[in-house]
Amino acid sequence: MSRFAEKKVVVTGAGSGFGAAIAQRFAADGAQVMLSDINAAGLEEVAQQINAAGGHCHTQLCNVAEEDAVENLVNTTLASLGGIDVLVNNAGYSHHQRLLWKISVEEFDAVFAVNVRGVFLGCKHVIPHMIEAGGGAIVNIASIGAVAPRPGVTPYNGTKGAVLTMTKGLALECARHNIRVNAVNPVAADTGFMKGAMGVDGLDDEATARLVTTIPRGRLCEPRDVAAAVTFLASDDGDFLTGTAINVDGGRSV
Ligand SMILES: NC(=O)c1ccc[n+]([C@@H]2O[C@H](COP(=O)([O-])OP(=O)(O)OC[C@H]3O[C@@H](n4cnc5c(N)ncnc54)[C@H](O)[C@@H]3O)[C@@H](O)[C@H]2O)c1
Repeated sequence: MSRFAEKKVVVTGAGSGFGAAIAQRFAADGAQVMLSDINAAGLEEVAQQINAAGGHCHTQLCNVAEEDAVENLVNTTLASLGGIDVLVNNAGYSHHQRLLWKISVEEFDAVFAVNVRGVFLGCKHVIPHMIEAGGGAIVNIASIGAVAPRPGVTPYNGTKGAVLTMTKGLALECARHNIRVNAVNPVAADTGFMKGAMGVDGLDDEATARLVTTIPRGRLCEPRDVAAAVTFLASDDGDFLTGTAINVDGGRSV
């Protein structure tokens, strides 16, 4: 029996990178998955890959920073899947890296709107349905930068610190409703994220080597590493885990 058979899962930011791998892993493990993103082409591509592999998924465009869009995502999911057992708040991005005092108020507000308000809205609109259904699991994608920051992305790291603190508080608020809330802290990965953070479409050998020297395991994070941690936290094997975060960082924060 697949470990997520009969489970209904929503993944935000599922059109590329970690979110795509998370959605694919849930689908491969038997879940029915709602993929959402602001990137329609990415969503379609990931959905086709899941369908081609025999998985079950739907797609819905959704900007997680907008309350109406998140409400619509939740309602569409309930109508098409019949419930929500797992919510993965993965959508996020970074402003271009530079010193805090060179970052505009607009850039600061925009990154908090997606990375923090987006997690708030996902939880706010999904939890009442999980309570009614008798339980669920939420996994928030934070960052190793929230616990071991490096210079250059300070407001971004602040968003992920907020996500970790909300994860802990929400775990306490939800425990008596049989809803677990956890987080994952990935280290650097060569995903679409790098375009925002470093202004490059992909990491070149020099940039990769620079990052890898800080990671004891000797490589960057891969989307599959994040998917493995997320699905573990959401599965019955994670039943006693709530309010915690797994550092998917190859030892970078030790
Ligand atoms: N790649 C890294 O080095 C790294 C490290 C730590 C944490 N993270 C976090 O992992 C998560 C996933 O990022 P990724 O690395 O897969 O990058 P990515 O750019 O490949 O994927 C992020 C996805 O989120 C979507 N998205 C962006 N803004 C959105 C919005 N307002 N509403 C809905 N969807 C939106 C994008 O379209 C994209 O498909 C993010 O929260 C990011 O902050 C990334």
